[in-house]
Amino acid sequence: MNRIYLVGFMGVGKSTIGKKLAKYLDFEFIDLDDIFEQKYKISIDSFFNKYDEELFRKLEHDMLLETFLKNNAVISTGGGTPCFHNAMEKINSVGYSIYIKMPPAAIVHRLSTAKRKRPLIEGIPKDELHDVIKEKLKSRSPIYKKAHLHIDGIDVDIKELAETISIKVNHS
Ligand code: S3P
Repeated sequence: MNRIYLVGFMGVGKSTIGKKLAKYLDFEFIDLDDIFEQKYKISIDSFFNKYDEELFRKLEHDMLLETFLKNNAVISTGGGTPCFHNAMEKINSVGYSIYIKMPPAAIVHRLSTAKRKRPLIEGIPKDELHDVIKEKLKSRSPIYKKAHLHIDGIDVDIKELAETISIKVNHS
């Protein structure tokens, strides 16, 4: 119970929910995207432009492995983190995982107003975005669904979530 992983598609609010949950539980909050950018002193967007996705996946996985040594932490993963290098299985073996679900239309809406650039959807025309996200979500959701708990990302009640986590964990 002392290592909680948030997984789900980009834009569903993993960082916002994670920050609030960590505060509520008095846990450390770790955002894999943020620590990637701090560690390599480059935005993820620029990293994808300069290097390639394969290297990004390797480095983000290495950072994920480092979180396995943390205690009392809420870890917000990148949308692709659980989908490479068998990461979802590894996450489930060392922590408690929560899949934050959201329908494609809500994701499209949130991403179109987001501050952070997402290299995987950059340059995709607006009218194609919904279909692209729908397809990517379809291919990734079997992995996200391996998480211990699935929650709806819209209007998350942090207190209720924290209570659900402790009930589930204390009875497993
Ligand atoms: C990615 C999601 C991003 C970031 C990178 C790749 C993905 O994180 O790690 O742009 O593959 O879905 P968020 O889910 O925090 O946007």
